[in-house]
Amino acid sequence: MKLRSDYRVLPSLRLVDMPPYAFGQLDELKMNVAAEGTEVVDLSLGSPDRPTDERVLKALYDGMQKRRNQQYPIFSGLPAFKDTICEWFEGRFGVKLDPKEGVLPLIGSKEGIGHLAFAYIQEGDITITPSPYYPVHKRATVLSGGHVYELPLKPENNFVGDLDAIPEDVLLRAKIMILSYPHNPTGACVNKAYLKKAVEICKKYSIILLNDFAYSEIWFDDYKPSSILEIEGAMDVAIEFHTFSKTYNMAGMRLGFACGNPEIVQTLYKLKTNLDYGVCMGIQEAGIQALNLGNEYREQIRLEYQARRDFLMPRLKEIGFKPMTPKGAMYVWIPVNISSLEFANNLLTETGVAVVPGVTFGAPGEGYVRIAMVQGIPALELACEKMAKFCEKHPFAFQV
Ligand SMILES: Cc1ncc(COP(=O)(O)O)c(C=O)c1O
Repeated sequence: MKLRSDYRVLPSLRLVDMPPYAFGQLDELKMNVAAEGTEVVDLSLGSPDRPTDERVLKALYDGMQKRRNQQYPIFSGLPAFKDTICEWFEGRFGVKLDPKEGVLPLIGSKEGIGHLAFAYIQEGDITITPSPYYPVHKRATVLSGGHVYELPLKPENNFVGDLDAIPEDVLLRAKIMILSYPHNPTGACVNKAYLKKAVEICKKYSIILLNDFAYSEIWFDDYKPSSILEIEGAMDVAIEFHTFSKTYNMAGMRLGFACGNPEIVQTLYKLKTNLDYGVCMGIQEAGIQALNLGNEYREQIRLEYQARRDFLMPRLKEIGFKPMTPKGAMYVWIPVNISSLEFANNLLTETGVAVVPGVTFGAPGEGYVRIAMVQGIPALELACEKMAKFCEKHPFAFQV
């Protein structure tokens, strides 16, 4: 490590051992490619391309005019925002949340997921996570001193983790089990029977069931995801995380919420009161407006992603790729024949198409790259043309 001064104060070893967050490195590479004059088609980060709705922006602006909202927020969240969440949740999933203790606004769901590990994991505790994984699903536990049991997602199981394959000694030491379907990066989805089994296991072994439900509203065809809280008994063990980043195109505002078992939600709240001040109240008012945009708005967003998927799948197959058709989320997970890093770097430098190397999501992601459907169809078409040329030039790279 290059030292900036004579002082030598080492960061925590847990942080020193942590590899850099790959998306930061990718940003640099994208900038270099663009600086050389290549047009970059960015299908890397899952950051939605559509603008935040005008009505939501107005609610944010109006919200910030209020003197009270210019001060520190209410730690536990704006009651009107929590009530609106409860109303939406009951309408969508048929589940009544406890608006006082069972809902907590977050500075984005990643923040809450990370902090939940800090709240519960002690030295030696285990978190079980599907792998490949969204990085915070592993890293927060490692930073808290715990161990992670990676449940492999295999193509022969449609990238769904086999809950029966988790060894009993792992279940006995586990404190948190993570589910996150529709899944990032694979696009895998599960049914209610799967959720029921996870609840049964978590109840039997006293494990917190953390459902990261970032893509609850982005689903395709006849598949519609269920909340873990719809499952009988889940309220005893589960906490579910939702985000406004994806469906409402609000990734920049940083807004999400946790809901479920009041004791678990309140433990997260207790940790957060020690570290942050909660969510800006103007942003929570924008969140109320977002939820009130209604089903028509959400359906329009969902159908846009479905149109992108329907455009992309046949073209990727024509090129020669063999991806699984996702039933939800906003990603296509593509097997490649060389190292995922090499494939992604070469594709970017030679063509300007940015995708994420699968190894970013853990060792089982090696041999895959992830495309995020975060551009409109014309840009996807251009990306496909560029990828077709790349694959013609390097046929070995993708014949799997
Ligand atoms: C599975 C999953 N969870 C959480 C997040 C982060 O959401 P937020 O913007 O609310 O922090 C993402 C973002 O890509 C994600 O893919």
